Amino acid sequence: MSELFRFGVSLPKGLLNKFDELIKKRSYSNRSEAFRDLIRNELIKKEWQEGKEIAGAIILIYDHHKRELVNKLVDIQHDYQNLIVSAQHIHLDHSNCLEMIAVKGKPKNAQKLADTLKSVKGVKHGILSMSSTGKRLA
Ligand code: NI
Repeated sequence: MSELFRFGVSLPKGLLNKFDELIKKRSYSNRSEAFRDLIRNELIKKEWQEGKEIAGAIILIYDHHKRELVNKLVDIQHDYQNLIVSAQHIHLDHSNCLEMIAVKGKPKNAQKLADTLKSVKGVKHGILSMSSTGKRLA
């Protein structure tokens, strides 16, 4: 872990109260940890905007009875084999499947893959979780 520095932050009372309520709900043990996470979230946003190497995950929900849809999702993933680190398929119930696709690479490729998969007819829900390789986060 890198060296820790302390600094003071001045906030309006109302804003600090709201912050404390929020971090309590999210189970943070103290303000510092919550504040560090806020900063890291902004740094990750910047990584995505600047086209740095990122990591993330795409989650898809779909009905596997639609065979054409399943084939299409697999075909698309084969076109992005350099970006996809791993994929996991979970059978949620008789019809519904959840697929988690871990990605590492350029943000624009991750976004394009997520958009392409989400827009396939029959995908019930799709979301891209934008995260980081962790290399540029302290
Ligand atoms: Ni399944």
